[in-house]
Amino acid sequence: MVNLSMHIIGTGAAVPKRVITNEDITKVGDTSDEWITSRTGIKERRMLSGEALQDLAKDAAREALDAANIAAADLDLIIVATFTPTNFTPNTACYLKSTMGAGKAVAFDINSACSGFAYSLWVAQSIMAVHGYKNALIIGADALSIVTNWDDRSTFVLFGDGAGAAVLCGEDEASRGEILASTVHNFDDEGHSLFVTGINNGTPFYKPGTSEKSIVTMDGKTVFRFATVVCVDIMRELAEKAKVTLDEVSYFVLHQANGRIIDHVAGKLKLPIERFFKNVDKYGNTSAASVPIALHQMMQECRPKTGELVMLAAFGGGLTAGGAVFRV
Ligand SMILES: CC(C)(COP(=O)(O)OP(=O)(O)OC[C@H]1O[C@@H](n2cnc3c(N)ncnc32)[C@H](O)[C@@H]1OP(=O)(O)O)[C@@H](O)C(=O)NCCC(=O)NCCS
Repeated sequence: MVNLSMHIIGTGAAVPKRVITNEDITKVGDTSDEWITSRTGIKERRMLSGEALQDLAKDAAREALDAANIAAADLDLIIVATFTPTNFTPNTACYLKSTMGAGKAVAFDINSACSGFAYSLWVAQSIMAVHGYKNALIIGADALSIVTNWDDRSTFVLFGDGAGAAVLCGEDEASRGEILASTVHNFDDEGHSLFVTGINNGTPFYKPGTSEKSIVTMDGKTVFRFATVVCVDIMRELAEKAKVTLDEVSYFVLHQANGRIIDHVAGKLKLPIERFFKNVDKYGNTSAASVPIALHQMMQECRPKTGELVMLAAFGGGLTAGGAVFRV
């Protein structure tokens, strides 16, 4: 085991060009801009229309590598968190490795739904520590539009597509972005409340029914309750592990599933809502891409100063949750 400190030294994001507004959504189902805005805070989202998710992941990765001033050839590890990959094999990480020229990197995908970026960070840290790896690229990329149930108005209003990336550096001398603590958790007993069935093309001997289509099924109220409780727990845990107080954290970047979840968390912890970055109005819930896209935009728009603390927290299917806190 190599005892290195781990640092976030670059971020990037990419979303599809096509904007789908709430007005557009009202044309495919019985809903309204007023309902979507008041229940979720979402005004629009992006959806793939011709682009490949793995190319968005590549665009986000390039931006993160440029920001980190690292060449793809210097990467030791690529982890992509996704459950809606362009191809199951070669997986998205292998695609990035071969098309970006990351010749020596170990590359693989993981699936932890909307908590995927937090899991990829935790897994990357562990692998880097064991193998003494210097540079890792972690990505969250999802296209929930391809598994949306367009007959279920309580879910088809929520999702969007995108990709976000971060470069991790495992070097004691790196002067910025030190990760002070990270965590992941599973809550398998509640897994039934958020479900996307796997693919089943059938065989000459068995034809699956329509109920076996690969689409989202969700008990919104249960997931809402889970999210508000688990985010508070994760944030307290991270603060304790990092030996900081939540009051000392300048920016909180939570999974952008619903603006009301973020408001609830801020209220429960009695923290100013201004410190919670939000872009759910523009992108909806982009699953594993949500935290890294929001992190990238927060870094660009809020420009936290060196030494300020940033905390990430995510939750999602599994049920799963995770997060990290780092010093800019
Ligand atoms: C999905 C969610 C927005 C629904 O909000 P809610 O306040 O729980 O709404 P409900 O499901 O109780 O529905 C309330 C009413 O609105 C209606 N409704 C549901 N979706 C609607 C829509 N898109 N447009 C208009 N009305 C809608 C319902 O039929 C219901 O009508 P009724 O009172 O006449 O029966 C909310 O539960 C949520 O955000 N949950 C968390 C989801 C999440 O974060 N998932 C991802 C986790 S990674």
